[in-house]
Amino acid sequence: MFQSLYSRLSLVLLVVFLLMALLLFGLFQQASVATRNEASQHLHYDLAKNIVKDLGITSQGTFDPKMIKDAFHQMMILGPAIELYVLDKDGSLVTYDAPEEKIKKRSVNLKPIISFINKTVELPLFGDDPRSLDKQKIFSAAKVLAKNEGEEIFVGYLYIIIGGENFDSISTSLELTEAWKISIIGILGALVFLLLVSLLLFYALTRPLRRLTKEIQSFESSTPKQLIKDDENVSNSGKGELNLLKSTFHQMEERIAAQLERLNKQDEIRCEFLAYVSHDLRTPLAGIKAYLETLEIKQETMSSKERQSYLRKAISNGDRLEGMINELFELTRLESNQIKITKDEFAIGDMLSDIYASLEDKAKQQGVKLIVKCENPEALVIADIAKIERVTQNLVENAIRFSKKNGNVVIHTEKIDEKNHLIQVIDNGSGIAEEHLPYIFEPYYRVANDKQLKHMGAGLGLAISQRLLLLHDSKLSVSSQLGEGTNFSFTLSTYI
Ligand SMILES: Nc1ncnc2c1ncn2[C@@H]1O[C@H](COP(=O)(O)OP(=O)(O)OP(=O)(O)O)[C@@H](O)[C@H]1O
Ligand SMILES: [Mg+2]
Repeated sequence: MFQSLYSRLSLVLLVVFLLMALLLFGLFQQASVATRNEASQHLHYDLAKNIVKDLGITSQGTFDPKMIKDAFHQMMILGPAIELYVLDKDGSLVTYDAPEEKIKKRSVNLKPIISFINKTVELPLFGDDPRSLDKQKIFSAAKVLAKNEGEEIFVGYLYIIIGGENFDSISTSLELTEAWKISIIGILGALVFLLLVSLLLFYALTRPLRRLTKEIQSFESSTPKQLIKDDENVSNSGKGELNLLKSTFHQMEERIAAQLERLNKQDEIRCEFLAYVSHDLRTPLAGIKAYLETLEIKQETMSSKERQSYLRKAISNGDRLEGMINELFELTRLESNQIKITKDEFAIGDMLSDIYASLEDKAKQQGVKLIVKCENPEALVIADIAKIERVTQNLVENAIRFSKKNGNVVIHTEKIDEKNHLIQVIDNGSGIAEEHLPYIFEPYYRVANDKQLKHMGAGLGLAISQRLLLLHDSKLSVSSQLGEGTNFSFTLSTYI
């Protein structure tokens, strides 16, 4: 029931307000009693003194029982809120106007009485109540002096309890009724109002949190496409922790959606690859088998030229098959970190002339012009020459393969700063559409169109190249325009 933050906060608030109400009520009650006591004691401050002075309770140097009785009688008229006690010098009760069984204490503590008479302590001042063993009450007190042969002798005290037993029983009920009235109407009214305002405030403050919780809940059941669509409707405006949390959550949502899509795409590519690989491996294998079978059957009737041509075709299919299998192994070893590089310094020109020599014929056959533009062939770079040759060769092979007849493939190198040498392979061939660019470095990814289908490789060359460059702390970059051409580039560390 109290699972949501709002209901929990409301419950806590309710408990806090109730405690506050009780506390305030208690304080109020105490304060009102203290005020009443203080006022009462002030009002009756001179009462004992006046009784002693005006009514007189002594004669011939000691207490006069008759006079005391008269005084008690007169005081009774004032009402039951006052109780009189005559004390001797030590505080023991001498006379009182109470039934015997009501008296629980025969003597009272004189300390507060003396403080009262000497006015050394602030009021209200509490003294022992003879009618109770432990109760303390406000009082009025005065010294009693008795005249004897012109001399005044100190004989004891007149001790008056203000607000006696009867008064107590009535005032308690009155006090409660009054206090309740004030508390219920005043304090509780204000507290209820405050509570309502706070609940409304809490409701408003926790609203964004509730909405965010709903979004997070719906996130679980959303598909990546839905996530992106939902995100488009979300405005990340506003400041504050909750809005920050919200926008961070949406960024996370977007990233997850993007990663999910990427994973799905990779999965798709892998599945496609399995189909392609089995087809691609089978095609050259079937070719080899077919050429060899024909050779076997027609051996006798074939001219040596024809035989030669069949053998060449079989060997070329074998090369293709070997190339594909090698690439597969190479990528697997790279992915499991089995390939290590050995860096050496070498002149960039040496590597370029090797590549030119090995691919010149291939370019010519395709009607493509292979151009090397090298600023400084002597420039030294530090890398694993075999691996970098492998990367560059794959780039140039791709460029030749995807070039039109009479197209140009340029290998361009230049030192771009103190530490880096740039290598670019630029062609003016078919180009790559923008939507394919993010995926071409993924293994097995091939951009299929009618022209390119004829040239289908395994789709591993760029993935291998990228991984080989990563081992050199470098990275393959691409920029391309469909129908205009492509530019692949990477940097190598220079030898200083
Ligand atoms: N210079 C380029 N011009 C146009 N498309 C290119 C170019 N280089 C690469 N591509 C595209 O990127 C894809 C991936 O290239 P990658 O070198 O990884 O594989 P591949 O050449 O098809 O096969 P492999 O290199 O394994 O024999 C290619 O299939 C092609 O569609
Ligand atoms: Mg390739």
